[in-house]
Amino acid sequence: MTEAILLVGGRGTRLRPLTVRTPKPMVPAAGVPFLTHQLARARAAGVEHIVLATSYLAEVFEPYFGDGSSLGLHIEYVTEEEPLGTGGAIRNVASRLRSGPDDPVLIFNGDILTGLDIRALVAVHESTGADVSLHLTRVEDPRAFGLVPTDATGRVTAFLEKPQSPEEIVTDQINAGAYVFRRSVIDTIPAGRPVSVERETFPELLANGAHLQGMVDSTYWLDLGTPQAFVRGSADLVLGRAPSPAVPGRCGDRLVLPTATVAADAKLTGGTVVGEGARIGEGARISGSTVLAGAVVEPGAVVTDSFVGAGARIGERTVLTGTVVGDGAVVGPDNELREGVRVWCDTRIPAASLRFSSDQ
Ligand code: GDD
Ligand code: MG
Repeated sequence: MTEAILLVGGRGTRLRPLTVRTPKPMVPAAGVPFLTHQLARARAAGVEHIVLATSYLAEVFEPYFGDGSSLGLHIEYVTEEEPLGTGGAIRNVASRLRSGPDDPVLIFNGDILTGLDIRALVAVHESTGADVSLHLTRVEDPRAFGLVPTDATGRVTAFLEKPQSPEEIVTDQINAGAYVFRRSVIDTIPAGRPVSVERETFPELLANGAHLQGMVDSTYWLDLGTPQAFVRGSADLVLGRAPSPAVPGRCGDRLVLPTATVAADAKLTGGTVVGEGARIGEGARISGSTVLAGAVVEPGAVVTDSFVGAGARIGERTVLTGTVVGDGAVVGPDNELREGVRVWCDTRIPAASLRFSSDQ
């Protein structure tokens, strides 16, 4: 397998809640745009040619990744005029593939951080002779995902996207968003209209007797659909829990990018990453958090499991826990922001104006 399709389009409705100006696939996780980790992992598994299927803000990808040569890849970009859905996006780039009809093609969602052994998925695909092989993972609450029950041999018996009723929750195995397709199967997806691979293609293939094979494993897996998950994922990359050849530096408790300045007695732990040109003041304590380029965390601030956007400023003694602070926002000194708070880009919160009390 030497070719892959990476899906990074759609309506993009989940970008805005991160309150950063950058589209989410390009928001730095462990110091580099998130997409870099997926591209580097594909390369490490032997992929040489990747088609990026996009439908929004496509112009941000190409200037950064170019022809892919800096990652040892050849990357092509295809932009849909209107979002074609996951299946439509795959079909829409079929003409760019160079593989033969029986060759395996890797396809993956652009918002997943995973330690999937890609070569193992290809090996399962080849040894079972499947039409499509899917990476499956187990989650506690499968409702937001595609449910994929399998038989004793791992063969997929149904595909239920986002089950609506309790009766539909027949398994805790979900579609982890990485597939190996036999090249010729891609051509059977209807062209020129929106198609959901999850709601249309997979159920139809199953109804027609095609062989869909599941590979369940318990490797690291995280859907970066929420800002909290994004912060978690970035910290796990820094800590080395989520393996990626693209982490710029050694894995450990913290990652401080060149040109960032950190006061000698500031404490950075739990996979915290400090972006270029960011400044961390004396006595600040930052744990499990992402601080983007040019942000300032003033002395004595305590930042936990939070996201501090590019150029944002966190005032002295301010406490942030599970908070997202948008690019350019200023949270003045002596504030306390907790679980789930999102401060929009460029907002200004005056000194000592917010306190948290659960009134329990
Ligand atoms: N090019 C293109 N065009 N890409 C798209 C489009 C489109 O119209 N629609 C979605 N995508 C891309 C998204 O950017 C994302 O990378 C991927 O396809 C999946 O779309 P999401 O919108 O993130 O779907 P989801 O998270 O609700 O569900 C999917 O992922 C789950 C795992 O995280 C499904 O594949 C589920 O079955 C799966 O369990
Ligand atoms: Mg998703």
